[in-house]
Amino acid sequence: MAKVTILGATGNVGVFAAHTISEIPYVSDMLLVGRPGREDFLAGCCRDLSDSFAARGTDVRLSYSTAISDAEGSDVIISAAGMPRRPGQDRNDLAFENAKITADTAEIIGRCAPDALLFLVTNPVDAMTAVALKYSGFKPRQVFGLGTHLDSMRLKSLIARYFRVHVSEVHTRIIGEHGESMVPLWSATTIGGIRISNLPTFSGLPAQEMIDTVRTSGEAIIRGKGATVYGPGEAIATLVRTILGDENRILTVSSHITSEIHGIGDVCIGVPARINRNGVFPVPISLEGDEVAGFRESVAKIKKVTAEVME
Ligand code: LAC
Repeated sequence: MAKVTILGATGNVGVFAAHTISEIPYVSDMLLVGRPGREDFLAGCCRDLSDSFAARGTDVRLSYSTAISDAEGSDVIISAAGMPRRPGQDRNDLAFENAKITADTAEIIGRCAPDALLFLVTNPVDAMTAVALKYSGFKPRQVFGLGTHLDSMRLKSLIARYFRVHVSEVHTRIIGEHGESMVPLWSATTIGGIRISNLPTFSGLPAQEMIDTVRTSGEAIIRGKGATVYGPGEAIATLVRTILGDENRILTVSSHITSEIHGIGDVCIGVPARINRNGVFPVPISLEGDEVAGFRESVAKIKKVTAEVME
């Protein structure tokens, strides 16, 4: 059984993630951590969530704290701490402020929970993953970010609808930045195991329109309802379940690559990775055509933001 801690648990994503994670059968203990001064809110969340566990018949020991060091003994620590994106903001507009919060947090986690896996959700997530890796002192396998996993799921759903197949028949990936420069891997997109370029209706596929929809999804949701919540919340739970169940799924998360992909390295970026109880392990892959230039561009952009916030 496992202990999961959520940092930044007073935000929209943190609270909903707590709810989705409580449904994972391996979770026995959950700790919600928020800033000092938010005790009443945290206590209220705990009571409300506990009621939902009672109504569902789930038995998870839930507690809250304003001290990050209480994450001690956690198997997985999710960091959603930081400023949320407001309408009209790019994820990178949050970089400096959130890097400071992430660095301070990671430094404490490195000391109090040295065996945990640290899962970054705070945006801009690729740069925050690099900051957390540096300040925690963790091994690369222990630190990863939500990256382009949700973007990949958004694309998968659009493709399933276009080809009128069940979403489980579609495999696809978006790699690179969780942001403007994300790169769809059409070369790795299959339906029922068949490359989509070999399917009869492929020629009409509105590929550019689809990727534009995915790229602007977060922004459109924030404009409409103030925050993205259910998508990231479910995506977080999928990753936690993959880890705690030791499932060895290949999911696209932000992780540190050395030079696995076309010789490019020393960056935290969305790439396919094997994920299990020991952490995340990037899978070396080959890219085709435009994907190579797209990925290089994404790497250059993330490296620049990462270097700026680490100065
Ligand atoms: C989104 C957030 C997770 O894309 O950035 O919904």
